[in-house]
Amino acid sequence: MEHMADDNRIVNTQQFEAWNGYEGRHWAEHQARYDALNDPANAPLLAAARLRDTDDVLDIGCGNGRLTRLAARTARRAVGVDLSTPMLERARASAAEEHLTNVTHLQADAQVHPFEPASFDVALSRFGIMFFADPVAAFTNIGRALRPAGRLAFVCPQSLNRMDQATIFTAVAEHVPLPDFSEKTETGPAAFADPERATRVLSEAGFDEVTITPLEVSQRWGPHAADAADFLFGWGPMRHWLRDAAPESVSRARESAARAFRRYETTDGVRLTARYWLATATWPGAR
Ligand SMILES: C[S@@+](CC[C@H](N)C(=O)[O-])C[C@H]1O[C@@H](n2cnc3c(N)ncnc32)[C@H](O)[C@@H]1O
Repeated sequence: MEHMADDNRIVNTQQFEAWNGYEGRHWAEHQARYDALNDPANAPLLAAARLRDTDDVLDIGCGNGRLTRLAARTARRAVGVDLSTPMLERARASAAEEHLTNVTHLQADAQVHPFEPASFDVALSRFGIMFFADPVAAFTNIGRALRPAGRLAFVCPQSLNRMDQATIFTAVAEHVPLPDFSEKTETGPAAFADPERATRVLSEAGFDEVTITPLEVSQRWGPHAADAADFLFGWGPMRHWLRDAAPESVSRARESAARAFRRYETTDGVRLTARYWLATATWPGAR
């Protein structure tokens, strides 16, 4: 199926539909909440990208655009690319609210969009690179958009079973069936959970000097346990998994999740440890 975006070409059609459907709307409507969860990755990621004020930056899968805007505060120019209309609307509005004049956004599939060759110094991503049907093609395409010696830096989740979040899913799974998170997936949050696969993909795409280092952060899920459970049960993938479950089972599962979240309540809200990979690589060539 063909969809319209800025270059009229989308190959990741299921992702396009998800991020323009319930899932993307949920992220757009809960912008602050998702940023509270994901902001702890910003500083390490931006440090790894070693941004300079002469850099042109591409933020892949920019979503509501927090990372694009942070990059734009150092870089000469930052462009956020994403599939999602509702999230790009939030990104554009937020850039305007922050009076940023060097940020632009593009609705396109980063796997195939014909970016101007050698037009960026840095490609960044905060959790936006795990959804490509053909990751080698996608990173090759992103690499071509980089100038010689251009830098790539992204964060992606480690396997769910290495995170506190796994204990919440275990509590939910006592009442409703959930997918087997230990199974390897080619696309989705855990697609780059295996650093050997990530290294192989980046190398096959043509990147050099690949480094993948672990990053452990504290994620704030909400002010208290019941609120964190409500948020989790509104999250797109959870809604999808529970679409055929009986309402009473879903309610029991939500109460069970709230009990599990209680263990992580602190004076600063519900805090779970998350584990990510921080990847860097260099596009070949010399300046
Ligand atoms: C988990 S969200 C992360 C959003 C944002 N980077 C953040 O940290 O808040 C993943 C994002 O990747 C985008 N995305 C997924 N596949 C994409 C593709 N092929 N091209 C461009 N964006 C894509 C989605 O639309 C979504 O906004």
